Amino acid sequence: MDKIVIEGGVPLKGKVFITGAKNAVLPILAATLLTSGRNEITNVPQMRDVSTMIHLLVELGGRIDSIQGDRLAFDTSDINNPEAPYDLVRTMRASCLVLGPLIARLGQAKVSLPGGCAIGARPIDLHIRGLEALGANIELQGGYIVGSAKKLKGARYYFDTISVTGTANVMMAAVFAEGETVLENPAKEPEVVFLADMLNLAGAKIEGAGGDEIIIQGVSSLKPIHCKIFPDRIEAATYMIAGAITAGEVEVTDCIPQHVEPLIMKLKQAGVNVETSKDSVKISTGNGFQGVDIQTHPYPGFATDIQAQFMALMTLARGQSLITETVFENRFMHVAELKRMGADIEIRGNTAIVKGVGHLSGAPVMATDLRASASLVLAALAARGESVINRVYHIDRGYPVMEQKLSGLGAKIKRVN
Ligand code: EPZ
Repeated sequence: MDKIVIEGGVPLKGKVFITGAKNAVLPILAATLLTSGRNEITNVPQMRDVSTMIHLLVELGGRIDSIQGDRLAFDTSDINNPEAPYDLVRTMRASCLVLGPLIARLGQAKVSLPGGCAIGARPIDLHIRGLEALGANIELQGGYIVGSAKKLKGARYYFDTISVTGTANVMMAAVFAEGETVLENPAKEPEVVFLADMLNLAGAKIEGAGGDEIIIQGVSSLKPIHCKIFPDRIEAATYMIAGAITAGEVEVTDCIPQHVEPLIMKLKQAGVNVETSKDSVKISTGNGFQGVDIQTHPYPGFATDIQAQFMALMTLARGQSLITETVFENRFMHVAELKRMGADIEIRGNTAIVKGVGHLSGAPVMATDLRASASLVLAALAARGESVINRVYHIDRGYPVMEQKLSGLGAKIKRVN
């Protein structure tokens, strides 16, 4: 099991480049199932979840024509196997994104029900009900979701809860459904808008993505997808916070500042210096920063995927901050570990009351999920002394070459196994 060892207390300085967005590339890869030919995707981030999704698509009959660095050419002419096996799906929930495209393309799908996960039950009932609304017959058999449909038919479907991959799944299935589909209360995340745009470039007819209603007119086929993945807003947010928490001067480049607008506002409110340009954000802290309150919400609100990282920052703020998690029911797994480093945090229901302390102290800590791991890395970068972060495979799922990027900013960080 790899570990990351960090000697904290070094103000980070310099530029860090942001890679392609994990949560954008995963649905795009699933969408290639709707095409039949050579898909070409660039700026593909090299991380565990992406390899898992590509592995799954190969299992379904796809073929890697070439994969060099961040460029992937993937042929989906011979997609013929409707079954996504448990041993792959259990390692990555986003595998459920193949459900809609498989039913749309092959008329059938057998996808293992994703297990639970550290941050919550994360059911996929909204995905299933949406596919049923389009006429799919869905049953649960031995831990697998078995779906079939002769021909999907357009329908109106309302999401009781906003669901990012739920919206993507049903939208992809609707691309080949007969007639018009209207999705109400859809997710507005940039990753959903990007998916709709790329599907349209391949011949789909989707309007309204990013708004309150997505309207899809069914088509009979799509051309292969050719696209460049946009920068990862959560990675950008993480390195922005790294600059603030270490009282350094960090420029996050090749990012989209607009995608992290709520974080920028909150950092400014806390007294952090933030300068933005078209594709970069510069962070520095004059004389520290004060506690500010946040509540996570679906886009365009403050992203739940940035909550843990922001909490790490708030542990060193002047005064108190209230951090309320409204999206997932159990996304405070990082709190106990931050407290082992000296943070003063009390949980009341879905709110964490964080009282700033003078400093954190390095400690051995345990990563539990992707963004909690990032939060512990940030705290360790600011803490006095050495921290050892265990179970770093969580980090490898969503942060390409994190040690290299942080070392490039002057961090004393190394991976040991
Ligand atoms: C996506 O997960 C992201 N993953 C998550 O990022 C992110 O935290 C989440 O959206 C919220 O922004 C990918 O895009 C691959 P949801 P997703 O469906 O789609 C409940 C990361 O760190 N819900 O929007 O699975 C659910 O339990 C990951 O990169 C249902 O009840 O999240 C949650 O409470 C973590 N039934 C809420 O909705 C459903 O059928 C939002 O979940 C679906 C969801």
